[in-house]
Parts: sequence; structure tokens; C-alpha cells
Amino acid sequence: MRLKIIILSSLILLSLCVLYRKYYFSTKKLQRIHECWYLKTQPKLQPSDWFYPMSHMNMTMTTWSAPIVWHNTYNESVLENYYAEHKITVGLIVFAVGRYLDYYLEDFLTSADEYFMVGQRVIIYVMLDDFSKMPLKYLDRFRTFKVFEIKRELRWQDISMMRMKIISEHIVDHIQYEVDFLFCMDVDQFFQDSYGLETLGESVAQLHAYWYRKNPSSFPYERNQSSEAYIPMGKGDFYYHAAVFGGTPIQVLDITRQCFEGIMKDKKKNIEAIWHDESHLNKYFFLHKPTKLLSPEYCWDSQFSKNSDIKVVKIGWHMKRYNFTREKP
Ligand SMILES: *[C@@H]1O[C@H](CO)[C@@H](O)[C@H](O)[C@H]1NC(C)=O
Ligand SMILES: *[C@@H]1O[C@H](CO)[C@@H](O)[C@H](O)[C@H]1NC(C)=O
Ligand SMILES: *[C@@H]1O[C@H](CO)[C@@H](O)[C@H](O)[C@H]1NC(C)=O
Repeated sequence: MRLKIIILSSLILLSLCVLYRKYYFSTKKLQRIHECWYLKTQPKLQPSDWFYPMSHMNMTMTTWSAPIVWHNTYNESVLENYYAEHKITVGLIVFAVGRYLDYYLEDFLTSADEYFMVGQRVIIYVMLDDFSKMPLKYLDRFRTFKVFEIKRELRWQDISMMRMKIISEHIVDHIQYEVDFLFCMDVDQFFQDSYGLETLGESVAQLHAYWYRKNPSSFPYERNQSSEAYIPMGKGDFYYHAAVFGGTPIQVLDITRQCFEGIMKDKKKNIEAIWHDESHLNKYFFLHKPTKLLSPEYCWDSQFSKNSDIKVVKIGWHMKRYNFTREKP
């Protein structure tokens, strides 16, 4: 008798579970359909709603009318209200291998937790070569970690080039279904101030702290015509920093695929562009203009003193950065 009751109640429980799952999935679907419909009928956020180019010097708009976002050029409350109605999830990919993992990952994650997209749903994708070194920190309830182990390349140049391939594979596999916007960032830097909704865009490029005031003919673009990354002298708009780029997952997929294609074509010819993946990224943004640019405040060399352009540093590079990566220009 007792056994019968137990079996019966387990059966009931089981069917309830099945029912719940079915119900759960269908509400999720309905929710999506509603969101889609809702987004289509709602007015899209226009730059003029939230972006005030005149409140900062003269470098606030590109010739192709993309906003260049500086501190104090945006209205946070307009953006927050808009995205409260249009819920989004923002992804952040970071690679940490070898010494970069030992030295920088924990700082990067701790500071991202404090400043990156506060109040939004965030998924941080950590690509590392040693699972056991993943710092187990408490992240607030909006944040999710996804940790992946990647193969270790011998040279940092190869790591930085292979990341283009790895990012594109992960976008195809799962990221495209998980987030609405995606950033890819170097690990040897840390957030120092609010890095929020004003940075989101279809394709987002970062102005390089060393070159944003310089003439294009002085940019360290790849100048060898045999390279896929070649940009002719006198051409080009800005020098972009590969330490930060982003956009919608589909756009980032296009960026990373084309960069990787360029890198592989060069490899076949035994060429390596002067600044590796960064040269190819600059070529990409030369051909396909980014829809939003971030001022150097969003990626500043902490060894530089701030000048009058730099009001608030949102991300600073670690001091030692260039010791085992590259030389300063
Ligand atoms: C923008 O301002 C800077 C410094 O204030 C100046 O050097 C530069 O020529 C200006 N650029 C334009 C396009 O007006
Ligand atoms: C931001 O926009 C809101 C709503 O339009 C407005 O009330 C507020 O004054 C704006 N804030 C700034 C700093 O311009
Ligand atoms: C460009 O690269 C090719 C292949 O590595 C090389 O043979 C050629 O000398 C380079 N040209 C210049 C101008 O450096």
C-alpha cells in the first residue's frame, strides 16, 4: 500500500515536472514573440535622443555620421529608460593565457563586475588555457560566467590572431543565441569607471590612445601591399585599438571572420602584418566603417598623464603591459 502511494506520487510529480517544462518553454517562446513584435512597433533609439555631440570639443562625429562617445556626451537616464523597456544581454569575451592569466584575469573580472554594464544582464566568456587558475569570485546575480579552455599558442602574436578564429566559432556555436551585444577585450587592462549602455552599437571601434589626434599618414597601418591588411598612405580614418571591439554578435562574427581570413591569406604568403590582428582589424574598419567609436577615455594608457580631452578614464591599461607584448611607438 505504502509503496503504491510512493510510486503514484512520484508519477504525479514527474508528470508535473514535464508539464512545467513544456509550459515554461512555451511561455519563453511567447515572450520572445511578444518582444519581437514590441521592438518592431516601438520607435528605435536615435542618436539625437541620447547623444549630445556639442558638449564635448570637436571630435564627436565621424564624416560618416557615427557618434564618437566621450564622457559627458550622452544622457545616461535616457539610455537606461530605453533599455529598461528593451531588455538586453551583453556579452564580454576575454582571453587569458599564460602569464596574462596569472597577472591580469582576476583584476579584469573584479573591475568588470564593478563597472561593466551595471544593472544589465551580462555574460562573461573567459577563454583560458588552464581551468584550475580560474579565479572563483562572487559576481552579482546579473552576471554569468562561461569558461572555455583553449589551446595554448607559443607566441603571443599567434594567440592574438587565433582569437579571431575562436571568437567566430563561439559566436556561431552559442553566443549568437545568448547575447544582443558582444565586446571582445584584452585582459591586461581594468575598468576604472562606469562602462555602460552608451557604448553599445552595431559595430563598435575603439580609438587608440596614442593616435587619436594624429594624422592618418602617421598611423602604424600595414603598408606592405602584399598584405591583406594594406592601407595606402594618406588613406584611413582613425587608428583603432584591438584591445576593445564589439557590436552585435552577427557583426562581430563578420569582423572576426574577415580578420582571420586576412591573417590566413597573409600566412600563406609568409607575411605577418605589422600589428598582427590589429592591422587586420584596422583594414576591416577602413572598408566597413564602424557605427560607433569610443573615445580614448574608454581605453587609456595609465602611464600617460591625462590631458584636457580625457575627463574620465573608463578602462586603463596595466602599467607593465608593453614589457612583454610590444614596444611603444
Ligand atoms: C579640434 O580641436 C583641436 C584642439 O582643440 C584642434 O587642434 C583641431 O584642429 C580641431 N579639429 C577640427 C577639425 O576642428
Ligand atoms: C537627460 O534626458 C532627460 C529626459 O529627456 C532630461 O530630463 C535630463 O535633463 C537629461 N539630462 C541631461 C544631463 O541632459
Ligand atoms: C612585402 O612583403 C613581401 C613578402 O613578405 C616582401 O617580399 C616584400 O619585400 C615586402 N615589401 C616591402 C615594401 O616591404
